[in-house]
Amino acid sequence: MRDIANDIGRERIAQTVTAFYAQVRQHPTLSIPFARVDDWPHHLEVLIQFWWVSLGGERYLGYDYQVPAKHAAAGFTPELLVDWLALFKQTLESHLPADLAAAWYARAERIGNSLRMLHEDGHMPGLQIEQASDKP
Ligand code: HEM
Repeated sequence: MRDIANDIGRERIAQTVTAFYAQVRQHPTLSIPFARVDDWPHHLEVLIQFWWVSLGGERYLGYDYQVPAKHAAAGFTPELLVDWLALFKQTLESHLPADLAAAWYARAERIGNSLRMLHEDGHMPGLQIEQASDKP
């Protein structure tokens, strides 16, 4: 597999992720679920590592990701994912050369599809807890 992480480099990953979330916070639909984030410097730090690792780099933080549970709690929907991916694509294209933007976007699309399938199949733990508590 191509070493996209090192081709882009940690500095550009950090700049792109930071720019993306600055736009998320201004976005008409995405700003609503992201209002739950109360420590933005921490969120940015863990998301920068997430992308570095997802693109092929080595972990450097001792942080335990809980991606399905956090997205269930945040109210993930396939409609919000469409907005998320569109904004992410726009950010990648304005920060990186086309080939690197396309390689990174392909990775985001695959992760987005996994999140959508987990959501559709009811495998996000938060959703299961909510469903369980509805039972008598
Ligand atoms: C391909 C698409 C997406 C990727 C790769 C992604 C990735 C991530 C990751 C890695 C985290 C950190 C999880 C953790 O701290 O354990 C996170 C947090 C979060 N994501 Fe996403 N996400 C995506 C789409 C979305 C969408 C569509 C929403 C809309 C609801 C969303 C809302 C959030 C929120 C609100 C948090 C913070 C949760 C918290 O800290 O309580 N994400 N995301």
